[in-house]
Amino acid sequence: MQIPENYTLTILGAGVMGSAVLSAVLKNRPTPFPGKIFCCTGSSASAQRLQETYGNAITATYGESNFQPVKEADVIVLGCKPFMCQTIIDQVKGALDGNKVIISLLAGWKIDQLSTSVGSPYIARVMTNTPAKYGCGTAVVSFSSDLQGTDFQSVRETIMAIVDTVGMALELPEKNMDAATSLVGSGPAFVLLMMQALAEGGVRMGIPYETAKKCAAKVMEGTSKMVMESGQHPEALKSMVCTPGGTTIGGLLTLEDRGVRGAISRAVEEAADIASKLGKK
Ligand SMILES: NC(=O)c1ccc[n+]([C@@H]2O[C@H](COP(=O)([O-])OP(=O)(O)OC[C@H]3O[C@@H](n4cnc5c(N)ncnc54)[C@H](OP(=O)(O)O)[C@@H]3O)[C@@H](O)[C@H]2O)c1
Repeated sequence: MQIPENYTLTILGAGVMGSAVLSAVLKNRPTPFPGKIFCCTGSSASAQRLQETYGNAITATYGESNFQPVKEADVIVLGCKPFMCQTIIDQVKGALDGNKVIISLLAGWKIDQLSTSVGSPYIARVMTNTPAKYGCGTAVVSFSSDLQGTDFQSVRETIMAIVDTVGMALELPEKNMDAATSLVGSGPAFVLLMMQALAEGGVRMGIPYETAKKCAAKVMEGTSKMVMESGQHPEALKSMVCTPGGTTIGGLLTLEDRGVRGAISRAVEEAADIASKLGKK
């Protein structure tokens, strides 16, 4: 099985995440680039809005017209809500020939479950996040066993090229997906809480909110860049900021006394635990 050079990409459920992937694909143009892109939605209003936004780069459909885009697809990005997925797949079942590559953005749906549902063994399960809308998303990808092995290397490369357009794509085994759902999917909310807390600290000490918010956001962005570009361990970078007897070590000890480190790590554990129960409901 190979993905043709001029493949057709169909986004089945082009809402928040589906559109984020679509925008990223159009902007960052993976190689190979799809010859045709369809966006399937559930309503004429959404299809019209997508058509107006993206013009002739895509063809947007809804309702029964979703059948043909699914039939023509070589690669399908599943971007519907998890609880609606089975109904939506049933609506286009006759168009699924068992030979399509499925890139699923669905939280909680396991590869085996997806494979049985769509009747294809070629599944990539992806967990990404909302910063994908700004080209700064993180995506973790797990491949079905049928996509592993050297024969499927070019298929995996095409999938990774598509997913990487959201920002950064990394491969992990499926056993890590619940943790990735927490760290990557819920991570932005955890970081936003930390950002808001930093900004409020600034406000408490007299900085106007808008300025404090911008400072907090830029501090987080800059610190991330420093970690990614230096390749150094965060603890090493942290200790470089701590002047003996200075302000930073004083603030850090307060954070440690209040258990902030453990609370953040346990938040990832808790969200991963909840994610593990999603697919079982
Ligand atoms: N949002 C996040 O932060 C986030 C983060 C990580 C992962 N995810 C995952 O991403 C997936 C999508 O979430 P979302 O927030 O992007 O959902 P969403 O914005 O509600 O998008 C769902 C899409 O499905 C379409 N749809 C509804 N009925 C359909 C039908 N019968 N046939 C075809 N399409 C139909 C909707 O069209 P209409 O507009 O016409 O209803 C809409 O385009 C979920 O599985 C979620 O687990 C989301």
